[in-house]
Amino acid sequence: MSIPKTIIEPFRIKSVEPIRMTTRQEREQCIRAAHYNLFTLHSDDVLIDLLTDSGTASMSARQWGAIMVGDESYAGSPSFYRFKSAVENLMPFKYLIPTHQGRAAESILFTMVARPHHVIPNNTHFDTTRANIEAQGSEAVDLVIAEGRDPDSGHPFKGNMDIDRLDAFISERGAENVPLCMLTITNNSGGGQPVSMENIRQTRAVCDRHGIPLFIDACRFAENAWFIKQREPGYRDKPVIEIVREMFSHADGCTMSAKKDGLANIGGWLAMNNEGWAVQCRNRLILTEGFSTYGGLSGRDLEAIAAGLEEVVQEDYLRYRIASTEYVARHISETGVPIMKPAGGHAVYIDARRLLPHIPPLQYPGQSLAVELYKEGGIRGCEIGTAMFGLHPDGTESPAHMDLVRLAIPRRMYTQAHMDYVVEVVASVYENRENLRGMKFIRQPKALRHFTGRFDYV
Ligand code: F0G
Repeated sequence: MSIPKTIIEPFRIKSVEPIRMTTRQEREQCIRAAHYNLFTLHSDDVLIDLLTDSGTASMSARQWGAIMVGDESYAGSPSFYRFKSAVENLMPFKYLIPTHQGRAAESILFTMVARPHHVIPNNTHFDTTRANIEAQGSEAVDLVIAEGRDPDSGHPFKGNMDIDRLDAFISERGAENVPLCMLTITNNSGGGQPVSMENIRQTRAVCDRHGIPLFIDACRFAENAWFIKQREPGYRDKPVIEIVREMFSHADGCTMSAKKDGLANIGGWLAMNNEGWAVQCRNRLILTEGFSTYGGLSGRDLEAIAAGLEEVVQEDYLRYRIASTEYVARHISETGVPIMKPAGGHAVYIDARRLLPHIPPLQYPGQSLAVELYKEGGIRGCEIGTAMFGLHPDGTESPAHMDLVRLAIPRRMYTQAHMDYVVEVVASVYENRENLRGMKFIRQPKALRHFTGRFDYV
């Protein structure tokens, strides 16, 4: 007998949430009322919500059970110690500081280390990381390899840092102006692409040469480890958990959003080996988040994360997770729609600039496409392009490197039929692409404008 090839969801569903069906006409009204900003929509007006994979995971029965044993003591809760040992099992840093989500960890870290003359390199900074660095008056610089910016490149590790450029960059700016170097795994803004172990090692070597600490933005660490296992020579037979430990053994610290590979709905942390920094970060934590054994989380959140961290490194889960993203990417690609290749870990990225060549980047082709996907099928994706990155701190605007629409896939939430529906809607928008129009901001804040800005058609 042969082994069946179909990769099934390695779970069954015990609890469900209804989806409210809507018509195109209703959706046109909703999106107009939301000023064409998908973040402004009411989520019960959305059929398939692919806005983010953050905080949207379906929790397991085990996690819900763990929530019931959460201990809400202000200080020294056993839930904190369970959380701590689950984190340390994967990322053995000396000091662990819980936070309510990833950006709180970034804020604490950069408030402590970043000064106006500083620059912080990364493969690609996520938007909150960049904003937290810029909020200190420092500069955030992206040094991903050239293949990472080429939607067609089949490079297996398109999230890799450009090692030569990093080295040259630090020499040029002076190591004293680089308080730390970051590596985002997987590389969210650049397409959910993984970073190889070899590249983590080489980044570390450059940092060592210049005496600079390396911090990992660890949000999707388990997905990254799975790609290493599949694609990097020498790792096929290594258990994921060991790959994870090896990844973090090259770093001096990390920031983490447990809303991604923590399989939790809220939470995060900051971890590091430097005691002096940890003391300062804890003091800041107490000022902004809470005491050092809960950091803005309840005991039950800490329990949910502890259980989630055990589940996220299970290989059946990761095999299904990455296969399901690849399934959506393959089927969308087969309709002729240009996407970032190869498929990333948590999302499919449609190349809106290429799909809509008649819309110039400064008229936000990604936003126009995202709005149309909502109107056509109630699908909520997210523009990752000029609307998100085009506005600079000095008030000038220029096209982002790419104009993408991200369809992020929540963990363990949607079935294959939901994804078949998504593919059908994308195909239908593709057929109608020539009718899509450019957009403009009619109101925008100075930073992170994509969250709250208002759009209209030009
Ligand atoms: N770093 C990366 C790589 C991220 O993707 C995110 C969040 C953060 C940091 C911040 O974490 O949301 O817990 O404060 N990304 C979400 C997304 C919002 O949709 O990609 P957070």
